[in-house]
Amino acid sequence: MENVLEIKSVIVADNYELISQMMLKLHEHEHTLLEKTAAWKDIETSYMRHVIAMQQECEGLCLVAYWDNNPAGFIFGYVEEQDDSRIEIHEGKELYISDGFVYSEFRRKGIYSQLNDAIEKHYAEQGIRRILRFAAVNNTRMRELMEKEGYIVTRLLYEKWLD
Ligand SMILES: CC(C)(COP(=O)(O)OP(=O)(O)OC[C@H]1O[C@@H](n2cnc3c(N)ncnc32)[C@H](O)[C@@H]1OP(=O)(O)O)[C@@H](O)C(=O)NCCC(=O)NCCS
Repeated sequence: MENVLEIKSVIVADNYELISQMMLKLHEHEHTLLEKTAAWKDIETSYMRHVIAMQQECEGLCLVAYWDNNPAGFIFGYVEEQDDSRIEIHEGKELYISDGFVYSEFRRKGIYSQLNDAIEKHYAEQGIRRILRFAAVNNTRMRELMEKEGYIVTRLLYEKWLD
């Protein structure tokens, strides 16, 4: 029997555990790449509050992918508008994609690419023309995927910790 992939839009506040569980796995993975990543238990409440607020106040969209009815991954983004300190030619609203994750057992099936296509399509229909996102510099898999999806690296974030 062929597998069925369904992508559904969900309200984070109504699906708190589902999204928080995937965020936990995302942050555990992020910790393997960047050791200063906080433990999810220490930031869960504030980060989830932020995600819920962005969904409610900033046209946020959370898409969950279900593989044969099993939650397999998600993507979350919201709209930002730059103030007059912007330096780019673009003046409209922008999409910031803040989080994305696929459980390891469901990877390499094109699930994230489909989540990404779906979120881009949604905001393109709202007139959004610029998308921004961060990826850890050593997240090779994500960076390859992004470049396949047409994203280019335009700036590097340098950090120094004075401790
Ligand atoms: C990055 C991630 C979201 C990709 O999810 P996925 O559903 O496996 O991605 P897809 O199947 O749509 O892959 C699309 C393309 O990405 C690349 N890719 C995906 N997995 C890869 C792997 N294991 N090795 C190398 N390239 C890979 C390939 O170019 C792939 O295309 P192909 O399968 O046709 O060769 C998933 O691996 C993940 O959740 N990783 C941990 C969390 C994370 O890094 N999130 C992003 C934070 S910025």
